[in-house]
Amino acid sequence: MERRLALALLAVFALACQNAAPAGDEAGTTGGDTSGGTAGSEPPTSTTEGASEARYTYWRDAKAILDKHCATCHRPGDVAPFSLETAEEAQMFAGLLAPAILDGTMPPWPPSADCNRYAHDRSLPEADRELLLAWIDDGAPLGDPADAPPQGPAAPTIAWDLDMPLPEPYVATKSPDDYRCFVLDWPEDQLKYVIGFDVVPDARPIVHHAIAFLIPPGSVTTYKNLDAAEDGPGYTCYGSPGGGGFSQQWLGAWAPGTQPSLDEKRGIPVQPGSAIVLQMHYHPMSGTSPADQTRLRLKLADSVEVPLHVIPFTNPDWLGGSMQIPAGESSVVHDFEVDLTGFIGDFFPQAGVKNGEPFVMHEVSLHMHTRGRRASLELDRQGAEDECALYIPNWDFSWQGGYRLNEPITVKPGDRLRLTCEWDNSAANQPFENGVQVEPADLGWGEGTGDEMCLSVLTVSPVH
Ligand code: HEC
Repeated sequence: MERRLALALLAVFALACQNAAPAGDEAGTTGGDTSGGTAGSEPPTSTTEGASEARYTYWRDAKAILDKHCATCHRPGDVAPFSLETAEEAQMFAGLLAPAILDGTMPPWPPSADCNRYAHDRSLPEADRELLLAWIDDGAPLGDPADAPPQGPAAPTIAWDLDMPLPEPYVATKSPDDYRCFVLDWPEDQLKYVIGFDVVPDARPIVHHAIAFLIPPGSVTTYKNLDAAEDGPGYTCYGSPGGGGFSQQWLGAWAPGTQPSLDEKRGIPVQPGSAIVLQMHYHPMSGTSPADQTRLRLKLADSVEVPLHVIPFTNPDWLGGSMQIPAGESSVVHDFEVDLTGFIGDFFPQAGVKNGEPFVMHEVSLHMHTRGRRASLELDRQGAEDECALYIPNWDFSWQGGYRLNEPITVKPGDRLRLTCEWDNSAANQPFENGVQVEPADLGWGEGTGDEMCLSVLTVSPVH
């Protein structure tokens, strides 16, 4: 939060400098490592007079990358603190960009590329990364607008079947973080499969993430009661939609930059009489928050080739109190490993997988709260090399998501699924409440901001 303020100040400062000095003079002071930055490009045409033959220019080279990988969030009214949408903005902020590109914090994409590959990967390809750094190092020259890349084809539009706004607009009341759950009625009266998922944030600058949970018919009253028990639209929730137990399934998650997803072959069945709880994480900065009425959009099908089921994976003992994270410790690790094929049929009969049979993991995610440092989900293969499904080396509660594996993983009897979480519960890693950093306390499993979790969510199917 304070970093954000500092950034805004920096932006104003950059603007002032920009007006005082000829454009392009003060950028390139980043000292970024730009070696090897010419991969795949023409050799620099050397020193003709006028020096207009820059290695890379905004219009010819950088614009396409910034548009695709940065301006999806760095644009007016969106979640990022400054815009990179225009040539002037890109040049003005160029000097600020290199550190975030170099250390990989921007664009935000939590999964480690050394572990596995997923659909909708937001990370910056190596060649683009080097090109941007070289462009910045050269002083971020603009070049000739005539070199602008042609407009790419517009993204295909999806004909959504359901457009479900929050029941009424909500004004966030807590700062800097307000976690709120809203119950959305499920309108279909036949079994349907959710094959496409999208969230349309309304108050864009303050909507930090949204997670949709599917509530089976038998549990809907529990959530309606939670809603009714609190004033105003929705109810307070954090990390999970509350209500106890694991009857809810994770239907989909959204954070800024998440693209709409659609998969005609695979989908999650929804029974008539179900409900959806949409958990919103608002991140209002200060002052009055704009009202928000975010919408969930879904694409449905009557049938699919591969019905998917979303199941939680964790150590049941942790819920019973064995996941202890002592106050002040900067590294606490808990891990759990089990052959899930042994009892998946008993615990999750709805997944359609029988005990002792292999199953397929299509999508994976990890969940901790704010003291989490890193987490991983691996497969300890019987007599074969271990396989990494998901590794998040720098856990950030604000950038959660589900990751659809490019190559689904088949888990066979004998394979052990291993979940590992590490926390930093030292004084320096405590969250802020009302502007004050909280004191470290002993932590265990729970649903509150003062609790922790270590959970993986798996989207599975039988082998087809
Ligand atoms: C998915 C949304 C998103 C994308 C894509 C994105 N950013 Fe950001 N960026 C943010 C947000 C939000 C912040 C504010 C800090 C935060 O919340 O982490 C930020 C902050 C920054 C900062 C300030 C320093 C920092 O690390 O906080 C820089 C520099 C930056 N972004 C550069 C970039 C560049 C360069 C790209 C493209 C290569 C990019 N960003 C892509 C959302 C995004």
